[in-house]
Order: sequence, then C-alpha cells, then structure tokens
Amino acid sequence: MSKENVSSQEDSQPDRRDFIKGASCAIGAAIGAVPMAAGVRVVLDPLTRQSETEGAAEFIRLTDVSDLSEGEPMKFAIVEDKKDKWSRYKDVPVGAVYLLKTATQEESETSISVIAYNTVCPHLGCFVDYREKEQDFFCPCHDSNFDLNGKLVKGVSPRAMDTLEVDEEKLKAGEVWVKFQRFKGNTKEKIAL
Ligand code: FES
Repeated sequence: MSKENVSSQEDSQPDRRDFIKGASCAIGAAIGAVPMAAGVRVVLDPLTRQSETEGAAEFIRLTDVSDLSEGEPMKFAIVEDKKDKWSRYKDVPVGAVYLLKTATQEESETSISVIAYNTVCPHLGCFVDYREKEQDFFCPCHDSNFDLNGKLVKGVSPRAMDTLEVDEEKLKAGEVWVKFQRFKGNTKEKIAL
C-alpha cells in the first residue's frame, strides 16, 4: 500500500469516527430528552411518519389531531436517515417537538389549533421538560421556566420557546404536519439555522 493510500485512509478515519460519535450523541440526547414526569406521552413511531418534500426544512407528518389531548403537551421524536461514505443509518434521532392542542369556542363552532415547539432551549440548547404539575416547560440547565404558550416566565433565556410552522390545511384535514427547524441559541431574535 502506498504512503499516499495509507495517508488517505488515516485522513478519512476521523470523519467516520466523528459521524458515529455524533450519531451516538444524538441518540443519547434523544433518550435523555425523554421526560420523567407522569402524563407526558412520548411517541417514537417513525414508521408511521411521512415527509412531504426533500430538504433541510420540510413538513413532517407527526400524528392525527384526534390523537392529541387538549391542553396537554405531547412530545414527538424527529428522526432522519443519515449516510456517510460507508453506511446508511435509518431513523437517527435528530430532535424532538412538543405539540399542544387547544380548542376555542367561537359562537357555535369549536376551532382547534395546534402549537408546535422545538424542545431545545433557546438559551444554550439543553432540552426543555414539560412539567405536568406546574403546567409549564422547564429548562434544568439554568432554571428557565416557560408557560404553555412558550412565553418566558423566569430565567435567563433570551427569548420565548421556538415555535415551528404547522401546516394549517393539513390541520383542517385532521393531520398534524410540522416544519422542523433549528434556531440559533442565545439570541433575542429567532434565527433559523
Ligand atoms: S440552556 Fe436553558 S436556560 Fe440555559
């Protein structure tokens, strides 16, 4: 084997190690993100999901509106297929979303809406827990509290929880499709990455 080949293999090894390390961290983070509080339902059901388009920010089908409980945030894992030079990795956890269904009565009609939050804290990126007893979202890293509307109640987060776009047309048809995005941490403005 030539010196050049050896060198090229050596150069490529860190890439692979970095990817595997990254994937392991993502899996660990997703598992760590599973809240311990009772009443929080976590759904890890990638097989039933469908994505509508290819690309970085795409709408992903998470559930049916009828499967959400009114006023109770539910957490959904976001998974993606990854690949590197050697392998394909199916359903790698890359994040999570809270969905909160609310109903408002307008004259004789009930209008249903769904708010979607990225579970990542806008401060420095820890995972935010839903606390059923306190009826809030709580970031344990630096003790920031957010109400169920995502508004900062107390703490150091520079902004409210990051909401995600929900497809309103699909919602009318009874399905929840969310555009999953990540945002820059520790800025007042919400800046999509
Ligand atoms: S990371 Fe959430 S408050 Fe600091």
